[in-house]
Amino acid sequence: MNYTLIKQTHVVVVILFLLIYLIKTILLLANNDAALAKFTKVVKVPEMIISTLFLATGIYMLMQIGASRLLIIKIIIVLLSIPIAIIGFKKKNKMLAVLSLLMIIMAYGLAEMNKKKIDKQNVDASVSNVNDPNYDIKKHGESVYTAYCQSCHGTGGTNGAGGADLTLSQMNLKAMQAQIINGSTAMAGFKDVLNEQEINAVTAYVETLKK
Ligand code: HEC
Repeated sequence: MNYTLIKQTHVVVVILFLLIYLIKTILLLANNDAALAKFTKVVKVPEMIISTLFLATGIYMLMQIGASRLLIIKIIIVLLSIPIAIIGFKKKNKMLAVLSLLMIIMAYGLAEMNKKKIDKQNVDASVSNVNDPNYDIKKHGESVYTAYCQSCHGTGGTNGAGGADLTLSQMNLKAMQAQIINGSTAMAGFKDVLNEQEINAVTAYVETLKK
């Protein structure tokens, strides 16, 4: 299965889920019981599909990426918000409804925080000296890859633990470099972590992984 597709589905589903909750909460806060009842009825089936997709894609991604501490906190918050939302709307309790909405938004924020944080890693100094006559850009790139990329893309780029399979990449060198610098939905950019030489080196190495 294609991880990127699952991830994109998850993001879309989360946004729809949030929208439905936001509308319901606004109607509840506005004391518009009739509209709330009507809206709840209309979205009942879509909401069931969305919730199922939300959980299924979430579980799939969890199995691929593995659970970090932040991710576990996020999952606990989401799971806790569900009964709170159910009780809140059933009892028309505004505080509980708002609380559950805030919890889901908070979990979403945690996911973003999770993505931004890349720690500086140690790259083998014996291969990173450009002035060394034996300097080999691909060896340098490989050590950068091991330090920063392997955790998601796996050894040799194939057994991707959540990252794309780099051996199957269709990207040209330039697009690849842009991806590494700027990142994308599920991959943070490395522009603040790696220097230019490291980016060039890791790009050169990843290029060699392509089949
Ligand atoms: C947090 C996990 C993670 C890390 C760390 C990571 N990547 Fe990625 N990478 C991904 C994911 C996931 C994708 C698929 C695109 C998406 O969902 O954003 C991707 C996509 C890519 C692509 C595009 C492949 C294609 O053809 O679509 C390249 C190239 C790439 N990564 C290189 C790297 C390099 C080089 C590093 C290390 C400097 C790195 N990645 C670190 C998760 C990661």
